[in-house]
Amino acid sequence: MNVLNVAVAGLGTVGRETVRLLRARRAEFKERLGAELRLVAVADRGAIREARALGLPSSITRYRDPLDMARRAEADLFVELLGGLEAPRRFSLTTLRRGKALVTANKRLLAHAWADIMGAARDNGARVAFEGSVAGGIPVLRALELSFSGDRVLGVDGILNGTTNYILSQGEEGVTPEAALREAQRLGFAEKDPTMDLSGHDAAQKLSVLAGLVTGGWLKPGAFPVSGIEPVSARDLTFARERLGMAARLVASLRFSGNTEAPAVSAVVAPTLVPLSHPLAALRLQYNALLVHTASAGDLMFYGQGAGAGPTSSAVLADILVLSRDILGGLPPAAMAARKLILTSPDDTISSYYLRLEVFDRPGALARIADALADAGVSIAAIHQEQVAGGRSVPVMIVTHPAARGRFEKARKRILSLASVKPAHCAMRMMA
Ligand SMILES: NC(=O)c1ccc[n+]([C@@H]2O[C@H](COP(=O)([O-])OP(=O)(O)OC[C@H]3O[C@@H](n4cnc5c(N)ncnc54)[C@H](OP(=O)(O)O)[C@@H]3O)[C@@H](O)[C@H]2O)c1
Repeated sequence: MNVLNVAVAGLGTVGRETVRLLRARRAEFKERLGAELRLVAVADRGAIREARALGLPSSITRYRDPLDMARRAEADLFVELLGGLEAPRRFSLTTLRRGKALVTANKRLLAHAWADIMGAARDNGARVAFEGSVAGGIPVLRALELSFSGDRVLGVDGILNGTTNYILSQGEEGVTPEAALREAQRLGFAEKDPTMDLSGHDAAQKLSVLAGLVTGGWLKPGAFPVSGIEPVSARDLTFARERLGMAARLVASLRFSGNTEAPAVSAVVAPTLVPLSHPLAALRLQYNALLVHTASAGDLMFYGQGAGAGPTSSAVLADILVLSRDILGGLPPAAMAARKLILTSPDDTISSYYLRLEVFDRPGALARIADALADAGVSIAAIHQEQVAGGRSVPVMIVTHPAARGRFEKARKRILSLASVKPAHCAMRMMA
């Protein structure tokens, strides 16, 4: 085979750049592969307009319906860059059932349809690659899959969402969350509807993909605790920096246990205070990072741009080249094992906690809060009451000694049920 036919679905931010680079660098890719990577079809609602804007020759078939392309195009490798869930699911399953190779950057698809996608790939001897789905241009998946194949990955801590990191790190410079979000949208890396980003669910989907890749099991979204950055205020950021020497980051964590046949994982996404000397605290603006803890190689950190047309198409093109080389070399598909993933509760995880409460200035209010913590077995390391002119409630910041997450959560629930405490509050685990 000296030609490998490629079809791309979705000519948006990432798809356009992928198609542009596929064509602009085809001589270089041909030299590297010893075969031509030939774009034969594109699909998009605006396929005709986009193909014209990209200067594609008429020999490249335009489809308005990606499913139509998945069924009919004579391609060896299909690239899914549509976004969303249902259309990508139908597209991907159709291509895999035809035994064709699939490249996708769609974390939502993988998080919600992991078992279907990997099952279809296994059953039909098809290849699938998805480097662009987590941390954009940073090659974390290939590193986890290949570079640590002789090692054991014990866990990961990642900053996997650029929008929330931009808001938190700009907040340290005095920029309000609203202004930072507007700027992130203007710069093009925050979604128009930022709910998934702010609530931590975008990072959670990426955690599902990471867990699937490491274990072969499906970490279902919704099965583990996820909280976002909405409660983190300027007051928290200032207190953390000036009094605790820490910075707030949205950290997505996995801890692996069990064994290869019966893998177990605990997962959590939560706003987290990290010491200013910690590598994750140095991560500013929209950058992403993944800290990988391994048994033999120790801790390693991957850092770079987690989104955008350039970084994501770089990952998509790498997937296309890797799968093409395997197809051309006649290598059998490296099927992902189907494992049942045991989900362990993160409630036994130990850390200190930061808790900011709004407390009505009533006699005994602080004593009742201290009692709730003590009854749950959580001891207080420091407590600070802010002076606010003329307010009926005052901010109270509490730092605990290391405690199990489950105990802290029990205390938090009871504290928030007290009549002297307002519901609005901010809780963050603290990394050592
Ligand atoms: N953008 C990034 O920085 C980034 C980073 C990492 C991963 N990703 C992932 O990459 C994928 C593509 O992202 P993107 O930012 O390029 O998205 P995008 O700009 O919204 O592009 C998607 C394109 O696909 C078209 N499309 C979607 N569903 C379709 C359907 N059913 N039929 C026909 N056309 C359809 C859209 O047309 P309409 O506009 O008419 O709907 C649009 O032109 C997503 O899965 C995303 O999560 C993106």
